[in-house]
Amino acid sequence: MSKPKIVAIVGSMRKDSYNRQLARLAKEAVGDRAEFELLEYADVPLMNEDIEYPTPESVQRVRQAVASADGVWFFTPEYNHFFPGVLKNLIDWLSRPMEKGGSQVLAKKPAAISGISPGMSGTAIAQDHLVTLISILNMKVMNWPRLTIPNGWQQLDEEKKLKLASSAIHLQKQADAFVQFLQNQ
Ligand SMILES: Cc1cc2nc3c(=O)[nH]c(=O)nc-3n(C[C@H](O)[C@H](O)[C@H](O)COP(=O)(O)O)c2cc1C
Repeated sequence: MSKPKIVAIVGSMRKDSYNRQLARLAKEAVGDRAEFELLEYADVPLMNEDIEYPTPESVQRVRQAVASADGVWFFTPEYNHFFPGVLKNLIDWLSRPMEKGGSQVLAKKPAAISGISPGMSGTAIAQDHLVTLISILNMKVMNWPRLTIPNGWQQLDEEKKLKLASSAIHLQKQADAFVQFLQNQ
């Protein structure tokens, strides 16, 4: 495979989201071994079968971005021991065919999962739920290593920016493993 393309999906709409910052650090950890695009999807509407066809422009855009990627890297917060509803909504749209009778873009797509939270779980419980969902959709989940960062506030600098002191090595290992996982497909 030539240089693979990774699309990063962050399950937070928050401007200063730690998970968004984690995705940016993941891009650095990947370096020039893969293209890395952060998917913006705030404009995707709530799933409603009444507006499914013709497909909204924003949905066409996110489906194309995923379809053209070699792998998807999820960065998810944990909301009430689950992954956030915005991420479920996006995945619901992605789970539907590009056109009636066609195939959906997540099937057989390699996936990696990371997350950071201020609590003790480090998003592990949310990640387990996400694995269940994306497995149903036939994604190829890289189950090891997954990255769970607990007590996230301990890894901020004076300006509250994520600097990933002790977790940096684990992010690097996951980036290395995912690049390899993509190359092995
Ligand atoms: C509705 C809601 C539920 C939450 N539930 C959890 C939780 O179950 N476990 C946890 O560690 N943090 C929980 N949090 C705190 C989030 O982990 C925290 O706000 C985090 O910074 C969100 O990720 P982000 O920085 O990427 O936006 C919750 C936050 C919200 C808004």
